Amino acid sequence: MERFPSASALIGAWKPDRPVIGLRPHAAGMAARWFLQHFPGDVAYAYKANSSVFLLGALYGAGIRKFDVASIPEIEDAATIPGAELHFMHPVKSRTAIRRAFAEFGVRSFTLDSEEELKKIAEETGGCRDLILWVRVAVPSHNSKIPLERKYGVAGAKAARLLVKARQAAKELGITFHVGSQTATPEAYTTALAEVGKLIARAGVVLDRLDVGGGFPSLYEEDGAPAPLSAFVRAIVDGVERLPIGERCRLMCEPGRALVAEAESLIVRVDARRGNELFINDGSYGTLFDAAHMDFNFPVRLIGRETEAGEPMTAFSFWGPTCDTIDFMKGPFLLPARIKEGDYIEIGNTGAYGRAIAGRFNGYGAFDEAILLDQPMLTMYPAEVEQSERRESRREAQQVQA
Ligand SMILES: Cc1ncc(COP(=O)(O)O)c(C=O)c1O
Repeated sequence: MERFPSASALIGAWKPDRPVIGLRPHAAGMAARWFLQHFPGDVAYAYKANSSVFLLGALYGAGIRKFDVASIPEIEDAATIPGAELHFMHPVKSRTAIRRAFAEFGVRSFTLDSEEELKKIAEETGGCRDLILWVRVAVPSHNSKIPLERKYGVAGAKAARLLVKARQAAKELGITFHVGSQTATPEAYTTALAEVGKLIARAGVVLDRLDVGGGFPSLYEEDGAPAPLSAFVRAIVDGVERLPIGERCRLMCEPGRALVAEAESLIVRVDARRGNELFINDGSYGTLFDAAHMDFNFPVRLIGRETEAGEPMTAFSFWGPTCDTIDFMKGPFLLPARIKEGDYIEIGNTGAYGRAIAGRFNGYGAFDEAILLDQPMLTMYPAEVEQSERRESRREAQQVQA
C-alpha cells in the first residue's frame, strides 16, 4: 500500500476522486502497547471494531494475541492469525455457530446470558467440560455514547442461578459485562464492579475469570475530553480489589474503539457548498455512521491547500453523497470560512466501527486506502506519541548526518 507523510501529501499526489481511508497502523500499535503495559490482565481486541489486516498486523506486532469475536466470519478471519486465542463473546449464538466454532476452530471460550444459551452450548459441544463460560451480566451505562445495557446481560436472582449452573458446566467460570461504548467516566466501571461483587456473593460461586469488557473512550473533541485511560485502569483495579474473588481470578479487558479509533482518518472531498452545509463524498451509509446517528463530532481539518493567514473558521454541517436526507452529519465541524467545492477535508479518529459498518447504498461508499506516517489528529496516548516523535526526529537527524 502506498505511504504518505500526511493526508496533505496524499492529496497533492493523488487528488483522489473517491474517499480515502488513511491508515496509521503505528497508532494502533501505540494504543495496544499502552494497554498491554498498563492493564493488569489479558487484553483481547474486539475484532468487530476494525478488521483491516494493516491494523491487525500492528496490534499483533505490539503483542495482542487474544481476540473477542462475535460471529463465524470473524472467527474464520481471526483464526488465521498465528497463535490467536479466540473468545466467542456474543451472548446469543446460533447452534451452527457454536458447533463450528467449537469443532472447526477449537474455540473453548463462550459467553451466555440465559439458561437456554447454556443448554445450547452444552448440546453443541457434546457436553465438553473443557470450557471457559462467561456469564454476561447487565450493568448500568453511565456517560456512555453508545449504551449497550438493554440488549444483553442477566441480573439479580436469575443471574445468580445462571452463575451456579454455568459453574457446574464449566472448567473456568467467568463474568463479563460491557459498560457501553465510548464511556467518558471511569465511575461506570466502579458501579459495574460493585454490581458484580453483589452477584458473586449472592451466587456463592468461585470465579476463575473476570472480563471488564470494552467501553474505553477515544478522543474526538478537545473540549470535554474523557478522563485519561490511566484513571479507567485505576478504577478497575480499585473495584476488583473490593470483590470477593481470590488471587487466582484472571482479569481481562476487550477494547475495540480505544485500540483503533486513532489509527484511521477519512479523507473526503467537498463536492458542493450551500451556505454552511458541505456536500462531501462519504457519509452515514459509508464510514461516517457515528457522525450522523450517534452525534460523534470527529475532528476535522482542511488539507491539500494552505489556509490564508487569519482566515476565520466557521461551523459547518455535512451532507453525505446518497440521496437520503438522513445522510446528514450535524456537526458542528469547524473549518476555514472560505472552504469551497474541490477542497479536501481530513476527518480524524474514524478507525473504530467506521469502515466496519460502511455499506454501498446508492452506489457510494467505495474508498481507496493509503498509509499515513504522521500522528493521529487527537490522541489518548500523548506520552507514546511524544516518544514516537522523539524517535522520529532522532532518526531524521541521523539520516542528515549520514
Ligand atoms: C462484547 C463486546 N466486547 C467488546 C466490545 C468493544 O467495545 P468498545 O469498542 O466500546 O471498546 C463490544 C462492542 O460492542 C462488545 O459488544
